[in-house]
Amino acid sequence: MLLRLPGLIDPHVHLREPGATHKEDWQSGTSAALAGGVTLVLAMPNTQPPITDTDTLNLVLQAARRKALCDYAQYLGATPENVHLAPGLASRVAGLKMYLDHTYGPLRLADMMTWMGHLAHWPAEVPLAVHAEGRTLAAVILLASFYSRPVHLCHVSRREEIVIIRAAKERGLKVTCEVTPHHLFLSEEDIPAIGQGRAEVRPVLASPVDRQALWDNLEVIDCFATDHAPHTLAEKDGPTPPPGFPGLETALPLLLTAVSEGRLTLDDIVQRYYVNPQRIFRLPSQPETWVEVDAEAAWEIQGANLLTRAGWTPFEGWRVRGRIVRVVVRGTEAFRDGKVLVSPGFGRNVREELA
Ligand code: NCD
Ligand code: ZN
Ligand code: ZN
Repeated sequence: MLLRLPGLIDPHVHLREPGATHKEDWQSGTSAALAGGVTLVLAMPNTQPPITDTDTLNLVLQAARRKALCDYAQYLGATPENVHLAPGLASRVAGLKMYLDHTYGPLRLADMMTWMGHLAHWPAEVPLAVHAEGRTLAAVILLASFYSRPVHLCHVSRREEIVIIRAAKERGLKVTCEVTPHHLFLSEEDIPAIGQGRAEVRPVLASPVDRQALWDNLEVIDCFATDHAPHTLAEKDGPTPPPGFPGLETALPLLLTAVSEGRLTLDDIVQRYYVNPQRIFRLPSQPETWVEVDAEAAWEIQGANLLTRAGWTPFEGWRVRGRIVRVVVRGTEAFRDGKVLVSPGFGRNVREELA
């Protein structure tokens, strides 16, 4: 029996172009999106060069326009230098991303004065997403409250973080958050099986208690987001493994498996992987766009079969239930039975004015 879901919206993906197309590019990354039932991706700015001004934004949007297979918007990265320039680009981007803790790429903002500057100047109605862990998360919620501006907390992974977000929401603060499949389904106990280098990810895989706290606070979680962060196996198995997991193609099957086990409902998925991301990130609806899944189909996840250029997955060998059979985007059959059917350039920038 085929189920029909809306085209999914992933508000947190890394596509690596410009600068690291051996890991992923706009074509391979958006192929992986379609294969995962995702029809709209918001692309992160920690590329090489990072996307922080007009020139770099034009550069990435040029590649996206030529190569994207699903719809998209691009984030702008916050720097100490672009506090006053960034708002001028707000209408063209998915939102502003501030990296407040150490992770992959050069965009970490060390100085809290810079955080304040962006929180004060970035338009309140345009999304602002942050990588903020632990005490940093508490700090940025406080600072955002000074300006009564919404802030979206990326990849929440620990008990103290989800508890603080609950407390902030109960007090009426404008916070929203996302959780990744890997923090819902993996913990530090899985590191030996995955392998030390491959298991590197930010935020790190947490304790089983942290993981359980995410499930126990499901109603506080606004979005599921993959944080699709492809690095090659050579890099992950090398001497300085970069942090990040590919995730676009495994997210929905893992979530559907949780549905089949009674841990989640289909509506939980639709709310967090479509309805809430569309509202929070102020995205237009994609007409005649849907995903058909065979909810009964059991299969085994194998990195070698994925369309991402990463070529591996932390879920290697996992038995899942739920296969993406067909994806229709704006009335066009874009993916069917493992094959992408649209051409590079089919994807549209949802922030671009329609001519
Ligand atoms: C991300 C990447 O590789 O770009 N890595 C990760 O471990 N999540 C960066 C990030 O999202 O923090
Ligand atoms: Zn991050
Ligand atoms: Zn990320």
